[in-house]
Amino acid sequence: MSRIVPEGEEDTITPPDHFRIWPDDARQLLKSLPDGCLDRAYLMFPDPWPKARHAKRRFIHPENIRELARLLKPGAVWRVASDHPVYQDWVFEIMGAQDLFDAPPPAKGERPEDWSPTRYEAKAYREGRVPFYWTFTRRGA
Ligand SMILES: C[S@@+](CC[C@H](N)C(=O)[O-])C[C@H]1O[C@@H](n2cnc3c(N)ncnc32)[C@H](O)[C@@H]1O
Repeated sequence: MSRIVPEGEEDTITPPDHFRIWPDDARQLLKSLPDGCLDRAYLMFPDPWPKARHAKRRFIHPENIRELARLLKPGAVWRVASDHPVYQDWVFEIMGAQDLFDAPPPAKGERPEDWSPTRYEAKAYREGRVPFYWTFTRRGA
């Protein structure tokens, strides 16, 4: 995104017509979209909220999983990356307990080909953490 709209130039750059930025809580946007409208979704290095008492704030959560399942077409993929051990365990636990997505084990420590790098990912590697990269596929006909 920052290649299209460099930081600090948000007010002067006109992005391409098909490009939209939602500057608010992503959950509001998801709620407003129609069923089966997405071919792909990304959740890149979500805030880990590592304290157990904050677990409800983690984006990977049954309610958000149901919302993504509503929006993604059957066979569409949801890519999720996290470098935080607490969040990684959480993703295994929560995605292992649902049946809306196929949830094979993640790639670990090396970004799969055709995934874009992110700033937070670079920071994770610099600081010696090991990102996990999941590809969840929406089940259905
Ligand atoms: C750890 S940063 C990762 C940023 C970027 N995805 C990356 O990989 O470099 C997590 C980001 O998620 C954003 N965020 C957290 N909850 C959000 C929500 N409900 N809707 C939209 N953004 C959210 C935070 O503002 C923060 O910028």
